[in-house]
Amino acid sequence: MRAIEWRDDGVRMLDQRALPHHERYVDVETAGQVADAVRTMVVRGAPLLGIAAGFGVALAARRSGAGGPGELVEDLERAGTAIVTSRPTAVNIAWAVRRVLAAAQRAVPGGLEAVRSAAVDEALAIAVEDEQSCRAIGALGAELVPDEARILTHCNTGALATGGIGTALGVIATAHQAGKAIQVWVDETRPLLQGARLTAWELKRLEIPMTLVSDTAPGSLMARGLVDLVVVGADRIAANGDVVNKVGTYQLAVLAKRHRIPFYVAAPISTIDAASDRGGAIEIEERNALEVLEPLGLRIAPDATAAANPAFDVTPAELITAIVTDRGVARQPYRSSLRDLVRAAPGGRAWPWEAASA
Ligand code: MRU
Repeated sequence: MRAIEWRDDGVRMLDQRALPHHERYVDVETAGQVADAVRTMVVRGAPLLGIAAGFGVALAARRSGAGGPGELVEDLERAGTAIVTSRPTAVNIAWAVRRVLAAAQRAVPGGLEAVRSAAVDEALAIAVEDEQSCRAIGALGAELVPDEARILTHCNTGALATGGIGTALGVIATAHQAGKAIQVWVDETRPLLQGARLTAWELKRLEIPMTLVSDTAPGSLMARGLVDLVVVGADRIAANGDVVNKVGTYQLAVLAKRHRIPFYVAAPISTIDAASDRGGAIEIEERNALEVLEPLGLRIAPDATAAANPAFDVTPAELITAIVTDRGVARQPYRSSLRDLVRAAPGGRAWPWEAASA
């Protein structure tokens, strides 16, 4: 199963809004259509959004009628801006757009066709690298999982959210594959139910034992000694190690601390945003209140009820036991451990904190 696929005639996306009941696909041909698919949650999950964003700019490169390489780069910049503004929190979107634009700019001396193919090649490279990142995260994270473990996870962080086996779900799948006795508690993840609809769907296909619980159950589970560890993904990790992830993550971290349960975050290096000094500086997407008022189209509150719908929250670094990346496992103090991992990654030296600490 591939959540997104680059094809000769455009990009094919598995429509995640229809799961788990229907496996249907959305085909897009323009960067604008990619931006719409991101905004409307056809595709979601930070690493997958990065891949979609890269493909969006590559589609613009393929379709642009620009007369020269400079003009083409300008077209790509416009396409990139439209995609970056489609969802504000997952940093992988801006990261991928920047990467594809930089590759296009480097190719300008080679002429129009060189810019076109540089953009496409870079977008494809992002997808391939994400698959490898997931494998690395899975292997490193699985080492932290005991031979028998009841693992709680939130939202969806698997093949539907990435270009590979997933981040947090990749850790779970790798531990299971290694023969560990894994039992997963799946948070339903209101209001869009990514846990119930998507994670349960993936775990079922992987034949990993799981139990779905409401978002209000984890305190009870932890208090009764039924959770051995928590592992979640991330949409953006600040320089100090604060983690922005699906709303509901923060309360899990507080509960885990209260019950002395390890709380792990799994994410690729591309999710670390050195330009965000701390979590409080990161924009939290506020989504349509109707998602809260009318889950799955069924009105659950009286008419004229006000509703708020923050899509993410900030988990302070002090509550996080470790951050598992594709380049290694970071532990407190995160400012230095994350910096060292980013420095070791290709392109990491250009990041703002390198300039600041030089
Ligand atoms: O709103 P979504 O479904 O895009 O939110 C997804 C999450 O919060 C995931 O936990 C995060 O992107 C990590 S995905 C590997």
